[in-house]
Amino acid sequence: MKPVRWALGFAIGVWPAACAAPNRSASEDAGAHPQPSATAAAAKDAPFRLTASIRELMDSEVDPAADYLWGSVASISTRAGLEERQPHTDEEWLEVRRHAITLIEASNLLVMKGRRVSATFVPAGGAGELDSNQAQQKIDANHDVFVLLAQRLQETGIDTLSAIDGKDPAKLFELGGAIDEACESCHVTFWYPNLGTTYR
Ligand code: HEC
Repeated sequence: MKPVRWALGFAIGVWPAACAAPNRSASEDAGAHPQPSATAAAAKDAPFRLTASIRELMDSEVDPAADYLWGSVASISTRAGLEERQPHTDEEWLEVRRHAITLIEASNLLVMKGRRVSATFVPAGGAGELDSNQAQQKIDANHDVFVLLAQRLQETGIDTLSAIDGKDPAKLFELGGAIDEACESCHVTFWYPNLGTTYR
């Protein structure tokens, strides 16, 4: 999800598929489940049980859902010529729709009170990145901004859902850019604020 992604890839007009953090793996965040203090805190105010970290939600729901949406409409330059990819059958549109639903609802999960960035400490992956404790502090101190940025992601998801329901591949493609900006706006605020890149 770093700006360098824009420079990568052989395909024309394909939203970059890989959105993973370069120096971290999901397995670094494994273990220590559920998070006892967060679970206890949540149990007091609501019937929810927090089991996954923000990083795990990124890895399991947000990133795969966005990747599917980005990959669903594309113009791909191959040796054989230009391949125009888009959903055709009702079943294909339905599959794209399922991923939009996941993205929209995952935005709600992200902002649940007590949700931790990571179950275990994760060091900064590179220059300009925060470690998981620093990211946590920043989110705790600016939770309203975090919520706003998650809502922005959700809004792009809702717009994407309308494009899907209208079977509009051009709109779906255009919204791929809006989704990517929504991801970056939050990452550049809470994950790698010191990279010197500005996003809207
Ligand atoms: C509201 C804030 C927010 C939004 C929106 C957001 N992310 Fe994240 N994302 C985070 C935070 C916080 C982390 C963890 C940072 C850390 O580890 O310090 C993260 C981490 C990640 C990771 C690394 C996960 C891992 O296990 O290494 C990926 C991949 C990712 N995000 C993809 C996305 C994609 C794709 C989108 C948009 C579709 C997105 N994110 C939108 C806040 C956000």
